[in-house]
Amino acid sequence: MSLSGKYFVETYGCQMNEHDSEKMCELMEQLGLESGDSADSADVVIINTCAIREKAEHKVHSSLGKIRAAKLRNPDMVIVVAGCVAQQQQHELSKKFRHLDLVLGTHNISELPDLVEKIRKDRQSIIRVGFAEDIRSLHMTAPRRGPRPICSYVTIMQGCSNFCAYCVVPYTRGREQSRSLVEILEEVSQLCSRGVKEITLLGQNVNAYGKDLGNGNRFTELLEKISNTRGLVRIRFTTSHPRDFDASLATALGSLDKVCEHIHLPLQSGSDRILSSMKRGYSFSEYLNKIEILRSKAPKCSITTDIIVGFPGESDDDFKSTLTALEQIRFDQIFSFKFSPRPGTKAEHMADQIPEKIKKERLAEVHSIQDKITQGYHKQLEGSVVEVLLEGRGRQNQFYGRTRTNKIVNFDDTGSYREGTVVRVKILRGLNHSLFGKIV
Ligand code: SAH
Ligand code: SF4
Ligand code: F3S
Repeated sequence: MSLSGKYFVETYGCQMNEHDSEKMCELMEQLGLESGDSADSADVVIINTCAIREKAEHKVHSSLGKIRAAKLRNPDMVIVVAGCVAQQQQHELSKKFRHLDLVLGTHNISELPDLVEKIRKDRQSIIRVGFAEDIRSLHMTAPRRGPRPICSYVTIMQGCSNFCAYCVVPYTRGREQSRSLVEILEEVSQLCSRGVKEITLLGQNVNAYGKDLGNGNRFTELLEKISNTRGLVRIRFTTSHPRDFDASLATALGSLDKVCEHIHLPLQSGSDRILSSMKRGYSFSEYLNKIEILRSKAPKCSITTDIIVGFPGESDDDFKSTLTALEQIRFDQIFSFKFSPRPGTKAEHMADQIPEKIKKERLAEVHSIQDKITQGYHKQLEGSVVEVLLEGRGRQNQFYGRTRTNKIVNFDDTGSYREGTVVRVKILRGLNHSLFGKIV
């Protein structure tokens, strides 16, 4: 069967969620629907949600509130909540929001078209959130939409088996499931034959790729094999876990031409006591040791990280260790968050929760230290020439792209270059969050 009309997808959360949304767009188009430009006028509205922190979780409430009036005008509208909040809250959501038609779990994406048709026919709401042994959407290909079609995501694994004390992901996405190597290679080469130049390999813990398949860690092997794909220019990957980081990955980052020199390696805290209470599986000195290996084998590699401030029990001294870690390692960029207690995790009810005011102060301190470091790196690049993959046209007739080290570069549109070309750009100005230059 096929349907007509428009669909609209709203997405929160990580790149994995963005990619799931791309898969849902693909499925809606296969069903005969066209992409619309607003939720209010769409026939199927999908809200793909994130539960990582309380603030993210709450967004779905306001989105559902906003769409209520449109649903009253168009009772045939099908409203879907997908993603991590759907997985976590299940029945709560449909009890609270009577106009919600479908709660779709993270393992059930492939069922979306059938369920939408069923709802259109029976006019009854459905909750579909069961975990699967083999997630069918893991095998789907979905090219990127929107402004960067030359870059594409490829999922290499879904879920996480680490159970860090603060994190909902193992509960919302299930345990680690790696995709087969053959299937990944096939997808990459298909995308490249359609003009994709850069792929980003996705997973919560990419450098543990293959462990669950029983032959040990095969991430570096995967990078080597993907490197042989004709037409592919750049390979990126995210996220890596420090515990599974080894010298072979450092070597790959330093030696494989297509693998971009950038790694996102979340540290979370500089205090051993907190790292242990977070159940991260490494001490600060082990982390530092890995950074040293990385810098010796891949000296040009940029390193970014995630930091949580105000984890339960974090003393002033613990927090100072995090600040010292930032000064010592000098990350290229960081993403920092105030600890947010998540339902069902170990840290939710831990003793010594830190007051909001202190979390706020600590976050501000982290920002002020890191901003100087990031700006320092950007200033250092002034006058140098970097390789940029042209990704698209931005504001004021400027082009934008990224360096191999994942820094955003804007430069004037010369008119003679096309998206997907690698150009050499001289950096004229190192700004706070990006670089500005001219093609040489
Ligand atoms: N798989 C990745 C990251 C997943 S979530 C990893 O293992 O590192 C992205 C980031 O969100 C985490 O690195 C962490 O810094 C942050 N985060 C996760 N749960 C959080 C919570 N309850 N409160 C605040 N930040 C959190
Ligand atoms: Fe969450 Fe830890 Fe898994 Fe990352 S490794 S997704 S922080 S449980
Ligand atoms: Fe959020 Fe789920 Fe990603 S909780 S960060 S959307 S895995």
